[in-house]
Amino acid sequence: MIQFDRIKKTFTLTTEKTMYQMQIGPVGHLLHLYYGPVTEGCFDYLQLTRDCGFSPNPYDLQEGRGWSLDTQAQEYSTPGVGDFRLSTLESESADGIQGADLRYVSHQIRPGKYQLAGMPAAFAGEGEAETLSVLLADAATGMQVELLYGVFSQRNVITRAARILNRGASALRLNKAASVCLDLPFGDWQMIHFHGRHTMERQPERVTLMNGIQTISSARGASSHQHNPFVILCQPDTTDRFGQCCGMMLVYSGNHRTDVEMDQAGAVRAVMGISDTNFSWTLEPGEVFEMPEVLLTFTQEGLDDLSHLYHRFIQHNVCRSRYALERRPVLLNSWEAAYMDFDAEKLLRIARSAKELGVELFVIDDGWFGNRDDDFRGLGDWFVNEKKLPGGLKVLLDSIHALGLKTGLWLEPEMVSEDSDLYRSHPDWALTVPGRKPTMGRSQLVLDLSREDVIQWLYETIAGLLRENPIDYVKWDMNRHLTDLYSHTLPACRQGEVTHRYVLGLYDLLERLTREFPDVLFEGCSGGGGRFDAGMLAYHPQIWCSDNTDPIARLTIQEGTSYGYPVPAMGSHVSASPNHQTGRSTPLGTRGVVAMSGTFGYELDPGLLSQEEKDEIRRQIDRYHDWQDLIREGDYYRIQSVDKARPYGAWEFVSPDRDEVLLNVVLADVSSNPRPLHLHLKGLDPQGRYRIESAGFYGCNARLPHVPDRIFTGGELMYGGYTLPILLGNYPSVQICWKSVTG
Ligand code: GLA
Repeated sequence: MIQFDRIKKTFTLTTEKTMYQMQIGPVGHLLHLYYGPVTEGCFDYLQLTRDCGFSPNPYDLQEGRGWSLDTQAQEYSTPGVGDFRLSTLESESADGIQGADLRYVSHQIRPGKYQLAGMPAAFAGEGEAETLSVLLADAATGMQVELLYGVFSQRNVITRAARILNRGASALRLNKAASVCLDLPFGDWQMIHFHGRHTMERQPERVTLMNGIQTISSARGASSHQHNPFVILCQPDTTDRFGQCCGMMLVYSGNHRTDVEMDQAGAVRAVMGISDTNFSWTLEPGEVFEMPEVLLTFTQEGLDDLSHLYHRFIQHNVCRSRYALERRPVLLNSWEAAYMDFDAEKLLRIARSAKELGVELFVIDDGWFGNRDDDFRGLGDWFVNEKKLPGGLKVLLDSIHALGLKTGLWLEPEMVSEDSDLYRSHPDWALTVPGRKPTMGRSQLVLDLSREDVIQWLYETIAGLLRENPIDYVKWDMNRHLTDLYSHTLPACRQGEVTHRYVLGLYDLLERLTREFPDVLFEGCSGGGGRFDAGMLAYHPQIWCSDNTDPIARLTIQEGTSYGYPVPAMGSHVSASPNHQTGRSTPLGTRGVVAMSGTFGYELDPGLLSQEEKDEIRRQIDRYHDWQDLIREGDYYRIQSVDKARPYGAWEFVSPDRDEVLLNVVLADVSSNPRPLHLHLKGLDPQGRYRIESAGFYGCNARLPHVPDRIFTGGELMYGGYTLPILLGNYPSVQICWKSVTG
């Protein structure tokens, strides 16, 4: 619900459990009052009105020197008018005026959810959301800013975005345009963010805020392996189970930046949006610049609850694919099975043996096109390599279909190799700086997706492939970051627009393709999980979580990802042992336990497996079928993160009606005479009665420690906990499923 109080000039946005309040200040600034649990009240008494020294006052509010933008919580901060903290916007008018003094002009409350032109944004079903837009203006430059708020009452999510309109008579230059400023004026706050590197993405790190500014950002042209565009601010005593926390997630796939400042008064400000590194934008009179959306959540029920809010929201209100809420096929991907060393016969042999094991979709990864025998060449030449696949792609895909399998194909549309027909005929289509040798990444260059002709060519090429061939699935990869940020068609004053225009071009392409081919299942990828963000999830219901398929490394990668992103969005496969990335050997069963907590599949050559392993894979796939609705629709709970004192990972799925539970435990280390491994389950009905339906132990000979038909109450399992038997071996694991019993 959105309410405007004409007397107090407050806007109150309420969801079932949260409330967000703002006020039009004494001279028209839009002030932030409150974001927290839903309650009655007007929080304008929290505004600081004492002279803080060296905090300047607006001209009309000089009396007493108590009112300063430097100490007021605000919705959209600008520089140059008395607020010396982080600003959301940096701009310059044609006559050199920097900054803006944004004052309230008007507002509108309307049913439904606003949308953004050319960028993904959350969508709402009938009656599911309301929109507030508040228009602010700067008299000196003619700049207007429209702040947008989407209120999803039942989902407890508030979305924010902003538009800048040039209502002046000459051009405006934006040097920074962030989407959101969120002020938390009181309280002790910590930040959880998700950093990493290739093959070790989204490692959670929780830090106490320092006085000053801390930054999470990517200037790589993609959201990146290194810093995810998602942060959580929480109280020091917040845990997965309890406590206040507030999430900020950017729906954007390119350069991003989140600055969190603790100011002189101990107040916290978080500013999130497109990064200002290498960014500028020229806004001609009458033009509008839109900034990507931020998904805000608040809960006092701990980090598990915050994760559930994002999981449901992304699946129901961000991801547009019909597959978001559907079962996904168990796939086998050819990459770690064959790399680029294959021909049609080999692929068909792998596909045939995959089918015998119960696999449903066979994906031909990199190496099927152009002269792509290694990763030095071929990108951009999206026609079949007839030497490897004689007769063409369709013949091979038809044969795979004839085996009763769906077909999938790998593409890396955004790239071009120097050694390719595409580059030879269009060298200017790559991002390169005139007079400078380009920087290479995996021996490839990045196509200039800011260009309409490049987007049109990509659209025709990919749509052509999808029209002419029976393709059920596409893996959309991106294997290097952007350098040499120069577009050969943009004028000098607009070169700072390249990285954002690139992302807009990418979204345009994805929009057109996913609209025309709604039945194709798209999986995103960028050297694994280098572009795992809510923007890509709008188009790709699943994203390859990491190039690291080692189940022990995956424990932290998948757990880190789970804070913000739904489990069915995480591509996760069983691969060969020893693992190709880490050299570690792990039991097949343990690899299965980890991979099942995601969009399940395989990444190995079944022809190299023993009969015993093949039988285990058949059973694994059966188990996955039994549990995939629970994994997809259920609530995911983190139970234990791997650490030195407790070297095991444990997590759980609980069905929406709480009558089925799947507990997963993987040991990353063992010791002799270990301490009891005792876990407290979560999310059950305390009065419910649960019986173990099945228990699988992998990589060890353990058995259940009690008679199998012991019935537990939910309260026993949650509050008393459950002790596992001693697990010894190399990376042993357990999967226990409880079902509720009636009577
Ligand atoms: C990236 C992907 C891999 C694989 C290779 C192919 O690294 O993450 O899964 O597709 O490219 O070159």
